[in-house]
Amino acid sequence: MIIRIAKKEELESILKLLYSCFAKTPKEYFLRFVPEREFPGNSVVAVDSGEIVGYVQVYTRYLRTSKDPVKVGGIGNVCTKKTMRGKGVASKLLSYATSYMKDIGYEASVLFASKHKFYVKNGWKLVMTYHYEFDVGGILKSSHEVINKPDDTLLKDLMKTSEEFNKDFAFTVVRDEYLWNFQLEYFLKKGSILIKSSTDETYVLFDKVNDGVYNLLDFAGNPSKILDLLPEDSKKILFFSKPCHPVTEYLAKNFPYTEKEHVLIFVKPIKTDEKSLDDLIFTKRWHYWAFDMF
Ligand SMILES: CC(C)(COP(=O)(O)OP(=O)(O)OC[C@H]1O[C@@H](n2cnc3c(N)ncnc32)[C@H](O)[C@@H]1OP(=O)(O)O)[C@@H](O)C(=O)NCCC(=O)NCCS
Repeated sequence: MIIRIAKKEELESILKLLYSCFAKTPKEYFLRFVPEREFPGNSVVAVDSGEIVGYVQVYTRYLRTSKDPVKVGGIGNVCTKKTMRGKGVASKLLSYATSYMKDIGYEASVLFASKHKFYVKNGWKLVMTYHYEFDVGGILKSSHEVINKPDDTLLKDLMKTSEEFNKDFAFTVVRDEYLWNFQLEYFLKKGSILIKSSTDETYVLFDKVNDGVYNLLDFAGNPSKILDLLPEDSKKILFFSKPCHPVTEYLAKNFPYTEKEHVLIFVKPIKTDEKSLDDLIFTKRWHYWAFDMF
């Protein structure tokens, strides 16, 4: 078996493998993420007798820290063909991806997953985050506009508001214009709701989970404005956040909520050591937006 960087012409075989490994995930997810701007240089394949039997992808992101932003590799789409599992294929792919990140100079690696032991065994450290469910039913909303497609001026305003708000949070992603468009276009097309205050620059992006239940994906601006920016039929707002986040603080003061500990984010030091990474990121107030998960 060979582990190596993928070739452009292998896209179809990679997609076929991903569809079979993640049968419940809509194909459009992979059609969007696999051939994104870094492909195929960010894709590692395991090849056995000429067949692609394993895959992992590394997305370059810049995370804010207590100092300057650092370059991290976001790990995504880890999979091994069913008949090849349990033989170390995925571990070898992750080890190759780690060396690759070291060579290119990534500070750390980040991933989102639920398979704890597997990633911990391969050097990633669990970072807890919380999942809040706010019971917001029956609140009057006012002074907001629902944006179906932001024009260039509004997009620039959103980017500015987001930059200003997130600069105080370590672990948030520095989004360039490509990332903004890549994410926002997708979320709006799939029915997420972008709501902006009509009185100031505050905005919020909600993903509809089911009737009356919304997942807060992204926010920037004045946290106390959130009450004006809830979708008309919202009853429950789900928010993956830290207790110290101003939106969490504000909602928790105003609504009944339930709080669950969620194991969601994993980090692995690559260029740096664990202590320096913790100093850079976790000594400051930190947060990660659902909008940025790859
Ligand atoms: C998870 C997955 C990538 C592991 O691939 P693999 O090549 O079998 O992994 P390795 O042989 O290197 O390591 C096997 C380890 O993963 C664990 N593992 C394998 N399949 C697993 C699964 N479906 N759920 C949880 N853990 C799993 C095994 O417990 C084993 O741990 P151990 O060595 O302590 O016993 C593979 O099962 C897969 O493709 N699953 C479907 C896609 C998926 O869930 N990807 C992960 C997204 S977060």
